[in-house]
Amino acid sequence: MPFNNTSYIKGTYFPPGDKSISHRILILSGQAIGKSEVSNLLEGEDVINTLKAMRLLGVRIKKKGKKYYIFGIPPGGLFQPNRSIDFGNSGTGIRLISGLISSNNIEVKLFGDSSLSKRPMKRVTEHLSRIGAKIELKKDLFAPIKLKGTGNAVPLTFEVIIPSAQIKSAIMLSALNTNGIIKIKELKTTRDHTENMLKSMGYNIKVRENSKYRFIKMENNKELKTINYNTPGDPSSAAFFISAACLKPGSKLIVKNLLFNKTRIGFIKTLKNMGGNIKVIRKRKIHNELIADLKIDQKKKLNSTILKANDVPLQVDEIPILSIAASFANGLTIFKGLKELTVKESNRLLLIHENLKKIGVRSEIKNYDLYIFGNNDLKKGGAIIKHNKDHRILMSFFIANMICKKNNLIKDKSCVKTSYPTFFKHISQFSG
Ligand code: S3P
Repeated sequence: MPFNNTSYIKGTYFPPGDKSISHRILILSGQAIGKSEVSNLLEGEDVINTLKAMRLLGVRIKKKGKKYYIFGIPPGGLFQPNRSIDFGNSGTGIRLISGLISSNNIEVKLFGDSSLSKRPMKRVTEHLSRIGAKIELKKDLFAPIKLKGTGNAVPLTFEVIIPSAQIKSAIMLSALNTNGIIKIKELKTTRDHTENMLKSMGYNIKVRENSKYRFIKMENNKELKTINYNTPGDPSSAAFFISAACLKPGSKLIVKNLLFNKTRIGFIKTLKNMGGNIKVIRKRKIHNELIADLKIDQKKKLNSTILKANDVPLQVDEIPILSIAASFANGLTIFKGLKELTVKESNRLLLIHENLKKIGVRSEIKNYDLYIFGNNDLKKGGAIIKHNKDHRILMSFFIANMICKKNNLIKDKSCVKTSYPTFFKHISQFSG
């Protein structure tokens, strides 16, 4: 079946395992003495790099059938690796594992590909230096990160100003081998999977939220217990199919086993505000994470919306695909406060704007706010998409073929492996 403006979305879809949870389960079960079992782990390159890093740090990980078995070692017990650790494209991997290493008495160089080497690392390492880790960055800003951890980390109180789960989680992982009480104050819109998993593994962690902030208190006086974890489906991957179903009337999609954590499903609210017909058909809680099945039965075309800056962290990875939905929605959509998008796997804000122009959609950037002048007409298309090997830009502009008169050309589609190796297989399975 060709994928173009006659295509619609249909079927019963199980999204691949969640990327954020996959990183965290490898890291945390790697610090629980004994054997943990993980199914539906995302086998994307980012997660596999975290798996290899954990092995280099002394954790035994085996795959048998579809399951992963992790034989954890205690906090503080990381091995001195015999070489530098390569994180490829993964900001989550390099930042979280920097945190983990920072409170272990080992010396490691962490590096990644050319995109990762341009992303800000100081936002994480400035906190880790405070506990006593010795850290050197390229130009004092970027990876490679030369990190000499401390076996004697100082317990501190942290305030994280940037809404970033990666910064918060790096600090939390450093706390696993820090004696005393660690407190973190951060914005409550960041994803809280590290907190939820630690709770499920019996760790001494207290989390409190008010209308704006989250307060985390940790003490390493209870051992992490091993866990048997079935990774729920990734909302950030499912977002491509859910958005595509909403923008194309006639689409009917059932989504099963979807991670429905409130910090991850902002895009569903946004699509509903635009007229997306999305219904939750079953909700349950497993290991402190909410999971749901959804039903999308789209009958009408979408309308525009306005997204407030404060709500961006709740859908930070979904703005590229929401931009495609907004292009085919009637009226002016404004996504406010997109500064964080400029430091993702690419400068996503700029690439969205440039590619929208190429396919025939008018957009403007003003002070990190993105204006998209949408309508329900097909766009000219026929463009060569510039994705700079950013997986989410590529997948978003592939979906854009549904709203273009002529299909666009995307050269080198290999970067989907980063987060969604089965993307094209799923396109052929769930489009008609
Ligand atoms: C992630 C956090 C987010 C997100 C990334 C995954 C995580 O990044 O964009 O894809 O798993 O913690 P920030 O923490 O930089 O916002």
